[in-house]
Amino acid sequence: MVNSKSKKLRIGVLGSGSGSNMQAIIDAIEGGTLDVQIVCALSDQPGAGILQRAQRHNIPAHYLDAAPFKTKLEGSAEALYISKLKEYGAEVVVLAGFMRIVKEGLLRAFPDRVLNIHPALLPAFKGVNAWEQALEYGVKVAGCSVHFVDAGTDTGPIIIQRTVPVMDDDTSATLHARIQQEEHVAYPEALRLLAAGKLVLKGRRVVIE
Ligand code: GAR
Repeated sequence: MVNSKSKKLRIGVLGSGSGSNMQAIIDAIEGGTLDVQIVCALSDQPGAGILQRAQRHNIPAHYLDAAPFKTKLEGSAEALYISKLKEYGAEVVVLAGFMRIVKEGLLRAFPDRVLNIHPALLPAFKGVNAWEQALEYGVKVAGCSVHFVDAGTDTGPIIIQRTVPVMDDDTSATLHARIQQEEHVAYPEALRLLAAGKLVLKGRRVVIE
């Protein structure tokens, strides 16, 4: 059992950017509404804000080079990330703005235990800059999705989605900021459900029990 009171679910976070989603998870933990432990934060970007945020909260933080690939995590870099996650005893991998496609090696090392947050209502607008895709398409409702990661890109079973309206005067930045507010609610909530053992995979549907 990983969710008993004596043993908190151990989470490894991977991110490439500012780390506001990890911050929301930290805030929920420190605020007493989320009973998990972040055991490490790993980034493919040496100066990433996510590493600085982790350090401010005494969470081990490491830049791990993922070259030679630019958009995926594969080969020796994948092995390096897996061994670091295992070294810290991570049980769940949380992708929080990690701008690389993860491959089978990581998924095999953490079966049904890799989560991602995507800034769109999947299956619409997969890939990068999803909020821009939504704005350009002209949708009236946008949002975010937390999902289990599978071998595809942004195709895994959806755990939680939250919506926001798209305003007539939205810019890419204002829409992304509104979506991020919902991301910061959705990710802690998804982890709360996971840690409580309430997420049950039925085919590609995630049922909350
Ligand atoms: C978030 O909006 C997240 O949804 C997005 O990157 C941002 C990271 O922000 N992820 C993707 O686009 C993945 N395809 P953060 O570093 O402040 O958490």
